Amino acid sequence: MQTTNAVLFCYFKILIRVKSIFKRMDFSISQYEFGQRPPVTIPSPEILKVLKEVGIRQLVSDHYDLLSISEIKHLFPRIEEALDKAKQRSSDFFIQICGGHPYFNENRGKPMLAKRHAPFKITPEARIVWLDCYSQVISKLDLPLELKKSFWDYLNVFSFWMVNTNESS
Ligand code: HEM
Repeated sequence: MQTTNAVLFCYFKILIRVKSIFKRMDFSISQYEFGQRPPVTIPSPEILKVLKEVGIRQLVSDHYDLLSISEIKHLFPRIEEALDKAKQRSSDFFIQICGGHPYFNENRGKPMLAKRHAPFKITPEARIVWLDCYSQVISKLDLPLELKKSFWDYLNVFSFWMVNTNESS
């Protein structure tokens, strides 16, 4: 009986894993030449209408939680209060870019994100880890697929603008 339960448990775990791989297949990562700044399309404002501010803040928070245990965790704040502030700055930005209240401009000024990322060593590999963490949280969202893709396409392209170091970490 115990063996049957163990086999069923393993089977169940594999099933969940396969399901999550299939879900994440919609979110492929594009490769670019170092230094390229491909044109960006901003995400659909429908995303904010469906998720509301609270949903965007949750999405960003979940992303930071994954980042803080990822291979690029050294880039992000370790102390909880600092991490919470980073989550807030980032959520403010995403609410704004999805057509919501301009919290980021109010609190931080013009985004100029490539410049804000300059103090951090962001390699093409770091971008992949960053995007992979987003693909995990986006795939679990309760959001129509075309809206998930709109958000993903924006991140996939714009993330390359933040790559500022062409060497492996
Ligand atoms: C390429 C992968 C990326 C990496 C590795 C990365 C890493 C970081 C790091 C280390 C910080 C500073 C710590 C913090 O405040 O969280 C930061 C800040 C931030 N990032 Fe990124 N980032 C990436 C891409 C992006 C993209 C594509 C966006 C927007 C679409 C973005 C938006 C922001 C914002 C809004 C901040 C806060 C800036 C501020 O302090 O006012 N990041 N990022």
